[in-house]
Amino acid sequence: MASENSESNSVNLETNESEELLNMLPPCPNPNKEELKTFEIPSYLTDVYNWAYVKPKNIDFLDRPLSYHIILFGQGWKLMEEYLKEINEGTKMLQIAHVYGNIIPEMVKKIGTKGHLDVIDAVPYQLERLKTKLQGIPHSNVEMWVQDASTIFHREYNTIGIYFLLHEVPNITKIKIIDNALKAIKETNGKLIFIDYHNPAAYNPVRPILKLVNTFLEPFAHVMWNKEIKDFANNADEFNWEKTTYFMGAYQKVVVTKK
Ligand SMILES: C[S@@+](CC[C@H](N)C(=O)[O-])C[C@H]1O[C@@H](n2cnc3c(N)ncnc32)[C@H](O)[C@@H]1O
Repeated sequence: MASENSESNSVNLETNESEELLNMLPPCPNPNKEELKTFEIPSYLTDVYNWAYVKPKNIDFLDRPLSYHIILFGQGWKLMEEYLKEINEGTKMLQIAHVYGNIIPEMVKKIGTKGHLDVIDAVPYQLERLKTKLQGIPHSNVEMWVQDASTIFHREYNTIGIYFLLHEVPNITKIKIIDNALKAIKETNGKLIFIDYHNPAAYNPVRPILKLVNTFLEPFAHVMWNKEIKDFANNADEFNWEKTTYFMGAYQKVVVTKK
């Protein structure tokens, strides 16, 4: 298991691989193409989550609606519905990180052709998966590119979504991602939506299971039980933070708007 400060084993894309990556990418506002040549998958992904998010064979196996619903103890539909409820038709949205299952295709349908969706992920193969899931849905208004969410976003959005990402990243990365997202929401009517783990009630039957998962598989997740998402924001007081919890406290939705 890696520690929060682990910097080892980061993946350097060799020149050929980065050329391929550049060819694969659609034109995007960021990152600077020179930066992409030295792009590194964040070390916590290769150290801790290599099996889940980096190895293509495992990604193919796990990226199915059934796995998504099992991992969330059958609450996946409810959480997806709560997320989609916050996304308006015609919005200009940034989705920070790919999500397994069919949630992003559902977002594309909800946003419709008058809106726009940007999707970023730190692992190129995750975006390849997403492309296959969008076949058959009109999606000329969807752009995607490889970017570490702890680096700055170069567009402004009405809506930014972060779905079950925070618990997977080290605390310092949580802070950077949240600050970047808060800077990229529009002053008026902009909103940032989080869905993530929360502190399950003492009587929640899945509490001990989640505790074991946090101990052995998800070293950066337990802090979601002790801290509020806004505790990771530098300028939290400039925003409204509205929290709702689900499934006896195990999950939370937080909607952030500018005061
Ligand atoms: C959103 S989270 C997991 C969500 C959920 N557990 C699921 O079933 O998909 C997983 C994604 O986050 C991406 N990711 C992790 N750290 C990232 C970062 N710093 N920047 C961008 N994407 C990141 C991973 O590559 C992976 O595709």
